Amino acid sequence: MAESEAAAGAALAPATSSREERSSPGAGDARILFVGDVVGGIGRHTLLDCLPILRERYAPTFVVVNGENAAGGLGITPKIADQMFAAGVDAITLGNHAYHRREIYPYLETQKPIVRPANYLRSQPGRGVCVVERGGVRLGVVSLSGNLYLRAGRSAFTEIEVALNEIGDVEHILVDMHAEATSEKVAMGWHLDGRVTAVVGTHTHVPTADARVLPGGTAYITDVGMTGPRGGVIGVKREQAIASLLTQMPVRFETSEEDPWLMSVLISCSQRLRADSIEQVLMPRPADTSRDR
Ligand SMILES: [Fe+2]
Ligand SMILES: [Fe+2]
Repeated sequence: MAESEAAAGAALAPATSSREERSSPGAGDARILFVGDVVGGIGRHTLLDCLPILRERYAPTFVVVNGENAAGGLGITPKIADQMFAAGVDAITLGNHAYHRREIYPYLETQKPIVRPANYLRSQPGRGVCVVERGGVRLGVVSLSGNLYLRAGRSAFTEIEVALNEIGDVEHILVDMHAEATSEKVAMGWHLDGRVTAVVGTHTHVPTADARVLPGGTAYITDVGMTGPRGGVIGVKREQAIASLLTQMPVRFETSEEDPWLMSVLISCSQRLRADSIEQVLMPRPADTSRDR
C-alpha cells in the first residue's frame, strides 16, 4: 500500500508544474481527489488529518467529499460543512442521509457548493449540481441517487441529462452515483462514458476493485468506500450491528471508532471531460490522534 502510494505520487509529480503554469480556462489539466462517505466525528478527524498529507503527495486541483454520514453517522450540519470547506474541500456531495439533520435544509439552499441527489423531487431542499473553479479550471459536480432500494423521486438516468444541461460548458464533470445496487452504478458509468470526466460510486462504504478508465475516457469505480472505521460494520459498532442481525430487534447504532481509514480515488486528467487515470488512495488515519477530544 505505502509503496504503491509513493510510486503513484512520484509518477504524478511532473504534472504539478504544468498546472501552475496554466493560466487560461479551457485547459484540461486537473487532478480530482474524491473522498468516500465521511462517517461521524472519527471520519471527520481522519479527513482533516489525511488531507494535508494527500495535498502534499498528489497536489489535487479539486477535493470533493461525500459528507452524507458526517454528523454522528447520519446527515451533515452547517457547522460540519463549514469545517470541511475551511479545510479546503471544494465541494460536498450527499446521499440518502442528506435530510437527517434539519438544520442543513436552509444551508442547502445557499450558493455553497454542497449538493444532494439531483433526481430527488424539485420540492425537496437543495440543489443537485454545482460548479466550482480553481485556477481557471471549472469542475461541475453532480450528485445522483440510485432508484433501487433507495428513495429517490425521479430516475437517475433521465435526470442526469437535466443536470448536465444545467452545468453547461465546463472543463470537467464528476458524478457521484450514490446507490445500493452495483448494476445501477455500472450502468451509469457506461451511460455517461465519454460525456463526463468521472462517475464514482458511493453508499456501500466498501471500496470495490474495479477502478478504471472506460473506453470513452470516463473514470469509473463502483464504490469508493468510506472515510471512517474499518473496525465496525460499514461505520456502525460491530457488536451493535451483529446484535441487530442476531436478535432481529431494534438496536441503537453508534459509530465505531476502531481502525479509521480514509478511502478515496484520485482522477488525473489532461483533456477536457476525459480522465487519464483513476487510482484508489486508501490510507489509515495517521498515528498521531491528538485531534481526538
Ligand atoms: Fe454513506
Ligand atoms: Fe448512503
